[in-house]
Amino acid sequence: MRPRRGHAIMVAFPFQGHITPYMNLAMKLASKGILVTFVHLEFIHHKLLSSLSEPDPFPLAQKSGLDIRYTTISDGFPMDHNRDDDQYWEFMLLNFWIRVDEFVGKLIRSDPDLVPFLVTDTLFTWQTAVAEKHNLLRVSFWTEPALVFSLTYHAQLLRENGHYPCKDHVEEEINYVEGVKSMNTKDLMPYLKEYRSRTLVHKVQMKAFDEVKKADFILHNTVYELESDTLSALNKIQPNYAVGPISFSRNLPPSVTRTLWSESDCSVWLQSKPPGSVLYVSFGSSLQDSKQIVGEIAYGLLLSKVSFVWVVREDADLPSGFRDEIAERGLVVPWCNQIKVLSDPAVGGFFTHCGWNSVLESMWCGVPMICHPLDYDQPTNRKLVVDDWKVGINLCEGGCVEREEVCEKMNRFMNGGVSERLRKEMKTVRAKLHDALENDGSSEANFEQFVKDLNAKLASNAE
Ligand code: UDX
Repeated sequence: MRPRRGHAIMVAFPFQGHITPYMNLAMKLASKGILVTFVHLEFIHHKLLSSLSEPDPFPLAQKSGLDIRYTTISDGFPMDHNRDDDQYWEFMLLNFWIRVDEFVGKLIRSDPDLVPFLVTDTLFTWQTAVAEKHNLLRVSFWTEPALVFSLTYHAQLLRENGHYPCKDHVEEEINYVEGVKSMNTKDLMPYLKEYRSRTLVHKVQMKAFDEVKKADFILHNTVYELESDTLSALNKIQPNYAVGPISFSRNLPPSVTRTLWSESDCSVWLQSKPPGSVLYVSFGSSLQDSKQIVGEIAYGLLLSKVSFVWVVREDADLPSGFRDEIAERGLVVPWCNQIKVLSDPAVGGFFTHCGWNSVLESMWCGVPMICHPLDYDQPTNRKLVVDDWKVGINLCEGGCVEREEVCEKMNRFMNGGVSERLRKEMKTVRAKLHDALENDGSSEANFEQFVKDLNAKLASNAE
C-alpha cells in the first residue's frame, strides 16, 4: 500500500517578524513533497492586499509546482479593531483555539486520505488543545535564537535560583542552565523580569512554553554552529533541529512580497553613495521608540554627518525641520525591502533593535551592527551579537540615549578601527550562516533529518 501523504496545517502568527520565516518554512516543507495549507488571519490578509498585487501570497511557489493551498481564518474581531490591546490577546490566549479547532476539523474531514499534522509558531497557545482533540502530531517553529528558547524553557530552574521573576535591578550570573554559558541577569528577556510578571506578554510566553514541552518536533530559525551547546543540551530533552536562516534557504521559488506595508525603493539613492558609507537604521515592525529617543537619534544622526537610510513610521515625531536639514545625506522611508538595502554595497552598518530576523539578515549580508534593543528577545539577542559573536557594538552603555553619544558612536562605528574589527569577526559568522545552507550544510542536513523523522512518525501514527 502507498504511504498516505502528509498535510501540514499552518496558521500564521500575526506579526511581520513571524510571518516572513513562517512563509519560507511553508515553502520548504512543500519542497519536500508535503501538502501545505497555509492560513492567514483575515485582517492580515487584508493588510497584504494593500501591499501585494495578488491576494494569494504564494503564486510563484504554486507555479513552480509546490503544493501550497492558501486560505484565511477570522479571529471574529472587526477589521479595524485595535489588535494591540489586552482584550484582543486575552481572547487569542483563551478562546481562539475554538475557531482553529472548528477550522482544522473541517479541513481534516474534507480530505481523509491525507495524514494531517500541525506546524505552529511556538508563541501560539492553542496547539495542545487542537492537537489533542484531533490526535495530531505537532511541530513547533521558534523564530528567535535558541538561547532565548532555552532560558524561557528553563523558567522553573531560573525560579529555583531566584532569577524568575527576576528582580528588576539585580545583576547576577546565571551559570546553571545546561548549554547556556554564564550570563548576567541584566541580559534576560524583559518578560522574565519582575516588573513584567503581570503582563499579558508574560502570560502568553509562559503558556506557550508549557505547550512546547508537548511538541513532537521543534524547529529553530538559527544555525547549529552559532548555538551548538544550547541546541545540543535542548536535544537531550526533546527533538530540536536548527534549520535557519530559513528565509535564505536555497532552491526555494523566487521570493514573493511578504511584507505588510508597501516598500519604498532606496536603490537609486543608494547608488549615489560610496561603498560602505551608509548606515541603515531600523527598529523592526512592531515597536517604535519613544518620542524622546526618536528625537535624540534624529539629532545624533544630524550631528554625526554620517549618510543614512532611516525606516521610521510616517506618524513618528521627527524634530521639525529634520527632513530639510538632512537634505541629500539621509533618506527617510516608512518601510523598505530590508534585505535589498542590507545587500547594497553602499551600506556599511545597521543600527538595529536586534529583532532576530534583522540580526540574521544583517549577518547574512555581512553588515556589522550598532545595537539598541527595545523589548522581547532583543536585549538577549544583543548579548549574542555584541558579547559573544562580536559583530556589533552597543549604542549606549547606560540607560539613556543622548544625542552626543549617538553621534560619537555612529562616527566611531562607521569609520576606522571599530568597523574593521567588527568586519573581521563578521566574515566568520557570515560564513557559518552561508555554509549551513549549502547542500551539505548543517541546516540543510537537519531539515532532511527532520522530514525523515516526521514521515516515520506520521506513518507509525497512521497505522
Ligand atoms: C519581533 C522580535 O523582536 C523578533 O526577535 C522575533 O523573531 C519576531 O518579532 P520585529 O520587531 O518585527 O520582531 O523585528 P525583526 O525580527 O527584525 O523582523 C522585522 C522584519 O521586517 C525583518 O524581516 C525585516 O527584513 C523586515 N523589514 C523591516 C522590512 O522588510 N522592511 C523594513 O523597512 C523594516
